This record gives sequence, structure tokens and C-alpha cells, in this order.
Amino acid sequence: MLKGRHLIEPMDFTNEELEGIFDLADDIINNPKEYAHVCDGKILATLFFEPSTRTRLSFEAAMLRLGGRVIGFSEPNSSSVSKGESIADTIRTVGCYADIAVTRHPKEGAPKLASMYSNIPLINAGDGGHHHPTQTLTDLLTIRSVKKRLSNLTIGLCGDLKFGRTVHSLIKAMSRYENNRFILISPPELRIPEYIRKEILQKNNIPFIEVEKIEDCIDELDILYMTRVQRERFFNEEDYVRLKDSYILNAEKMTRAKSDMIVLHPLPRVNEISYDIDNDPRAYYFKQARFGMFVRMALMAKLLGVVE
Ligand code: NCD
Repeated sequence: MLKGRHLIEPMDFTNEELEGIFDLADDIINNPKEYAHVCDGKILATLFFEPSTRTRLSFEAAMLRLGGRVIGFSEPNSSSVSKGESIADTIRTVGCYADIAVTRHPKEGAPKLASMYSNIPLINAGDGGHHHPTQTLTDLLTIRSVKKRLSNLTIGLCGDLKFGRTVHSLIKAMSRYENNRFILISPPELRIPEYIRKEILQKNNIPFIEVEKIEDCIDELDILYMTRVQRERFFNEEDYVRLKDSYILNAEKMTRAKSDMIVLHPLPRVNEISYDIDNDPRAYYFKQARFGMFVRMALMAKLLGVVE
């Protein structure tokens, strides 16, 4: 049962619980009218302490499409946080007004702390460079829908693997399915953090290699997950400028990829995917964004207990 639970990191739910969310998302995609009022009278609070457009709008659209309503703030200066309120007090207060809440915070662990004080389901929509579990639900639903499986896949993750929280969450989640293999493509400075390498990949004997060029491995991949260099998490602009265009996926590189490889990207894209592949049938990033809204509908319906 997911009713009343929080989602703070990808491992909070079992694979069976995830299956239940994906099955419900599929049903919502096929029968949207049946779900248009399941959240009538419910209120979602969006507590965004860090800027976000798509994730916040995706949650808002999801709740509106379920018949519920939305309150919230999209930058901390417009809330009592600027008066010095703690996140624990913010969530306890919001729990008096709303039925479910979603938060994004620049500090790793802040949503976890908030969840310990929350009497309503709380969803982490990104904490610093740490985790982004609803992006992972989005990624998994997309992969499941297109590839028809979440196992036996060679997954290339490319770009900023150090600061990219979507990458950390996706590796964690995909490591729980059988026979997946990772090819980690990044400049040496932006490799995955040691705790992901040791605690998740090595500890569970998951095959992975670290390379520097897309060209060296693109022909082996079932999925190529591109990410932007996370400018806001760099300590100096010089490093960002030096690394920002490390990878640009273009039509020429795509000629070497399998005909059924899919390209994913959590968005926003900066330069890392050239516009010339947007019409390639293997480019899935905008469809992925749509899956994101449906999976958030399914997630909120389950956490609120309005759908079995
Ligand atoms: C991602 C994030 O916020 O981590 N974006 C998103 O949620 N759609 C990826 C990113 O910002 O690069």
C-alpha cells in the first residue's frame, strides 16, 4: 500500500510497488477521462526552494488533470523561509492546508528531513546533486513503454555524471533489475561520485565501464541518456565554461547507433543534443516529458489512496 507514504529516494518503493504505479500510469494514458475527478477536493502544495519549470509544471498539470487544485511557491524569497523558518516548520504548517506536497531543495537531505515532520505524503522533486526520484519514475516508465522491459539493457549515461542527480537516481533504480550494464561517458572531472561507484555498482556486481567519448560506445547502447552540465553546482565559472560543451550528440554520431537505441534527456537541454536529431524516431526526450506527467498522476493518486 502506498497510501500515506513519502517518496524521497528511488529505493523507497519496491519493484512491485513501482510496477503498480507504472500499470496505473498506463491505464491513465489509455483512459484519461476515468481519472479526471479522482482528486476532486484535494490540494497539492508545491514547495520549490530551487528554481524549476518543468518539474513543477508537470506536477501542477498532473494534479489539475486528476481534478485537484494546487497551491505553493516557486522561489524561497516569496515564502517565510526568507524570515528564517525551518523546513520542518514549513512542512508542518503546509500539512494543515494541503493533502500532499512536493518539494525541491538545493540542500541534499532536506526533503528527507522534512518528511520526518510531515503528516501528509511528501515527494522529493530534487535535492541538490543527490536524488530526483520522480524523474526516475519518468525514465523507467518511458523505458518500459518503449523497450518493453527494464532488464537486459545496456545504458549509456553521458555528460555531468558528478552533479547530475537524475543520473544518480537512475543508476540506483536500474541496478535493481537483472542483467543491466552501464557505460558511463564523462570527462574525468565529471565522473560519477565515489558512493555511487562503490555502494551501488561495485557492491552489487553491476557491470560498468567509464569512457570519455560517445563515439567509442554508441553502437553498443540500447539507451543513451544525455544530461546537461549542471552549471549551478559548479564552484567556478571557468570550469563550467571549459566543460560545458564536452558532448554534443548530432546526426553524424547517431548514424553509428542501433536502429532501436533511444535517446533520453531529463531536460532542459542546453547544447548537448543538436536540434538536427529532434525528428529522428529514436529521439524520445519530449515524449519522455509527457510520460513524466502521467507517472506523477499515478504516483499522487496512489499516495493519496484515491485509486487502488
Ligand atoms: C533535471 C533536474 O532538475 O535535475 N531536470 C528536471 O527535473 N526536469 C535535470 C537538469 O536540471 O539538468
